[in-house]
Amino acid sequence: MSIRLSSGREIPIEMHKTRMVQKIALVPVEERLKAMGEAGYNTFLLKTKDIFLDMLTDSGVNAMSDNQFAGMMRADDAYAGSMTFYEFADAVKDVLGFKYVMNTHQGRAAEHLLAKVFVKPGQVVPTNYHFTTTKAHIELLGEAVLEIYYDGALTTESTNPFKGNMDPQKLRNIVKKYGKERVSFVRMEATTNLIGGQPFSIANLREIRKICNEHNLILVVDGSLICENAYLIMQREKEFQGRTVADIVREICTTPDLFYMSGRKNTSVRGGMIATNNKELFDKIRPWLPVYEGFYTYGGMSMREIGAMTAGVREMVDPSVAGCSVEQIKYFVNRLLETRIPVVTPPGGLACHLDAMKFLPQVPQSQYPAGALSAALYVASGIRSMERGSVSMDRDKQGKEVPADVELCRIALPRRVYSMSHIEYAIDRINWLYKHRDLVKGLKFVWEPPVLRFFDGRLEPVGDWGRALTEAYKKEMGNI
Ligand code: F0G
Repeated sequence: MSIRLSSGREIPIEMHKTRMVQKIALVPVEERLKAMGEAGYNTFLLKTKDIFLDMLTDSGVNAMSDNQFAGMMRADDAYAGSMTFYEFADAVKDVLGFKYVMNTHQGRAAEHLLAKVFVKPGQVVPTNYHFTTTKAHIELLGEAVLEIYYDGALTTESTNPFKGNMDPQKLRNIVKKYGKERVSFVRMEATTNLIGGQPFSIANLREIRKICNEHNLILVVDGSLICENAYLIMQREKEFQGRTVADIVREICTTPDLFYMSGRKNTSVRGGMIATNNKELFDKIRPWLPVYEGFYTYGGMSMREIGAMTAGVREMVDPSVAGCSVEQIKYFVNRLLETRIPVVTPPGGLACHLDAMKFLPQVPQSQYPAGALSAALYVASGIRSMERGSVSMDRDKQGKEVPADVELCRIALPRRVYSMSHIEYAIDRINWLYKHRDLVKGLKFVWEPPVLRFFDGRLEPVGDWGRALTEAYKKEMGNI
């Protein structure tokens, strides 16, 4: 929700009250520098005791509601046949409209099952944009993920309301080039995570559906951020103005053959699911569920988590839930634009994204500007963000570096966790860092794992710029 003040200014407003809190600490800048060094200049490797605002992700760190906690308490523990699962299935039917559903322990487990069943050697998966874990699962079994966004989707400063759309002509070209038998499925991600949480429109989704029908292709929607996508459709797509988030979510779900999501985002609980109305496809996946995840009525989740997820599914379409991060991000981005900080526009549905190539033009892409910016932001503020650039790209099959399309420092807004004063603090420190951006240089890898290297890889600064930044900070701002 946002609200217009009597002055005309619009601000995001929380439609909830806080009744349980967790203390956080802001450690002095010297300790932040030390912690960053010990973490190999990789924000994933920081410990939370050293973090002030944890804006690494919105995954698994949202505030749960009273109803979700109640759902956990009421959960019916049973290895098989738990009524909690059937209540979950009812919620999925009511909210998303799918008759068949299975749980998975999180989103990537759903991706694993889909890849296992549908992706064969030599096959490709066209998508509006890849997500890291999706790409890893598909490319471990098949040939490649092909990104077929519209020209302009990678332009970070833009007015295009639907940078998450897929280019239908490019999809037709792929079918022609590879033949439909080499296309495992077509994947649409609701708010393309890696290019700034940008939504697709329903008009585009329908067009892609049409092409899939023409060629008998399976359409998969990754709905990990479906509610934010729906909220942005409500605000930006003419046909859906005045419609509810719940309506739009249902509309999106009428389109794909298969739907999956990470429950850690929209439903605010560890878990995931695959859902469909196509029994034949469902029955192809179902035998593998107990092999990799667990029995059909729990799929790798605890019953308590499924209880919380059931309430989460029902609540996620409430506009005050679906819109809480979107409105905070809009405010955050617009405030940074006032001082011309390079950020991804239009504001998306997941985070405020700084464009690291514009923020740190002195750092060549081979020295990971987005990684350097995330590390520098931590030193300057205690805020943990996430590198979403070339560190997040694995090497190709020949072992060569793959430069990312965009180099973003992602400052995520977990749902219903941070307040306006936290966002104001972040805006202030980003501005401070921008004034001292010349001090920041690049990074180089000292150790990298063979797959998803961003999680666990260790880097070091090119030159001792962490020290230089810390000294400048102490001089102007003091120890904290
Ligand atoms: N698909 C999308 C679009 C995602 O954003 C994520 C996770 C997944 C699949 C995988 O789900 O984590 O439950 O296994 N995104 C998190 C993030 C990790 O930080 O953006 P998971």
